[in-house]
Amino acid sequence: MDRAVTHAASLSGTLSLPADKSIAHRAAILAAIADGTSVITNFPDAADPRSTLACLRQLGVRIVEEQPGKIAIVGQGRHALAAPASAVDCGNSGTTMRLLTGILAGRGLRATLVGDTSLSQRPMGRIAEPLRTMGASIELRSGHAPVNIFPNQSLRGITYTLPVPSAQVKSCILLAGLYASGTTTVVEPVPSRDHTERMLGLPVVELDDLRLIVARPAHAVAPITMALPRDFSAAAFFLVAGSIAGGGPLRMPGVGLNPTRSALLAVLREMGADIRVSAQANVGGEPIGDLEVHPATLRGISIGGDVIPNLIDEVPVLAVAAACAKGRTSLTGAAELRVKECDRIHATVTNLRAFGVDIEEYDDGFAVQGGKPLVGARVDSFADHRIAMAMGIAGLVARGQTIITQSEVAKVSFPQFWDTLNSIAIRA
Ligand code: S3P
Repeated sequence: MDRAVTHAASLSGTLSLPADKSIAHRAAILAAIADGTSVITNFPDAADPRSTLACLRQLGVRIVEEQPGKIAIVGQGRHALAAPASAVDCGNSGTTMRLLTGILAGRGLRATLVGDTSLSQRPMGRIAEPLRTMGASIELRSGHAPVNIFPNQSLRGITYTLPVPSAQVKSCILLAGLYASGTTTVVEPVPSRDHTERMLGLPVVELDDLRLIVARPAHAVAPITMALPRDFSAAAFFLVAGSIAGGGPLRMPGVGLNPTRSALLAVLREMGADIRVSAQANVGGEPIGDLEVHPATLRGISIGGDVIPNLIDEVPVLAVAAACAKGRTSLTGAAELRVKECDRIHATVTNLRAFGVDIEEYDDGFAVQGGKPLVGARVDSFADHRIAMAMGIAGLVARGQTIITQSEVAKVSFPQFWDTLNSIAIRA
C-alpha cells in the first residue's frame, strides 16, 4: 500500500514503542528449550517475532497467549523438540531461520526451513558451513533457503572465528553447541549484539582484542520471566526525527540500551544531537532507560570501523540524519547492509537521491553532502521494513508530500509505526 507522508511543522509526544525484536526471538527460542515454563510479557505483535512463535509451535512447543503480549511457553528441555510435519516458515525473519537452524541441526531432526522472497535470497552458507564442521547434515539451494536439515550423529564442539561480525551466526553456532559434545567456542574479532550470551548466561572471555563465548551441553537453560524492553532499533527512527524536525521533545520510555545495540546514541550525539537518558535500570540482564530527544543542529562526521555492527540496523535512518546535517558524513565498513532484508546501501542511496540529496555510493557504505532541504518524492520501500520507516522520517522533514510504496512492510518489526508517526506530527 502506498503511504503519503506530508511535511510536519513540528513533532512532540510520548511514544509507546514495540518490544525489542532481537530479544523477543531469543526469549521465545530459549523458553522453548528451557526446563520449565517461561512467562514473557510485552511480547511484540510484529510479524518477525510472531514467525518465531509459529515455527516453535510447528516443533511441538506449547505456547499460550494468556493476554495480548503475555505469553507462557512450556519448555520441556532442549531434546523435547519434535520434527515438524511440514516446512517451517520463517517468513521475512533471518534471526528465526538462522537461530532455529542451529537448534534443529543440534537436535538432529529432519526439517526444512523456508522464507519469503527476501529471506530466500539471503546468505545461509555462513551458518551451514560451521554447522557441517560440527557434523551436521545440511543442504541449501545455491547457498540460500530452503534450508534442509537431515538427521545426523550428535554434533561435535568446534572453535569458530566469525568471518563477519554477525549475532545471528554467533547465536546459531552457540545454540548448536548446547547439543554438541565437548566445548563450542565462538571467537568474535569484532563484537556483535550479545543478547544470546547474556540471556543464556554463557561464559565470555576477553582475550587481547577477541571475545570468546563458550557453550557446552551441560549448560542449563533456565525458564525466563521477563518483561521485554522496548526496541532501540524502533526508537532510532524517532531519535533522528526528534533531532531534525522542530518542536519536541519526543519521549520514549523503557527502551533497551544494550551497548552492543545502541551505538547510534553516541554517533548522533557526536553529530550534535540533544538526547537525554534517564531512569536507567536493568531488566532480565538487559539495560534500559527513558530517552528524550530535542531538536538540534546536526553536523556531518565520519563513521566506520568496529562501531558498525552496533548500529547496523540503524544505518538507513542515520543516512536521513546525515542528509539533514551540515557538511559531509561518510559511513564505511558496512558491506553487510547489502545482504539484509534488501540491499540497504542501494535502497538508501536510490531513495535519498529521489529526495534531492547529494549522496555517493560505496561498496561498503556512502558519503552524504548534507544540509540541502529535502524535497518530497515517491520512494520505494524495497519491501524492507527499515527502508520504509526511514523514508517515512525523511518525509516528515521533506517539503511537500512523500509517497512510500508497500509501506505495510513496517509490520515486520513495528506494526504501529505509521500511526505513531501521525500521532506526533503537528502539521501547520
Ligand atoms: C540480529 C542481528 C543482526 C541484525 C538483525 C537482527 C539478531 O544481523 O541486523 O536485524 O537478532 O541477531 P547480523 O548479526 O546477522 O548482522
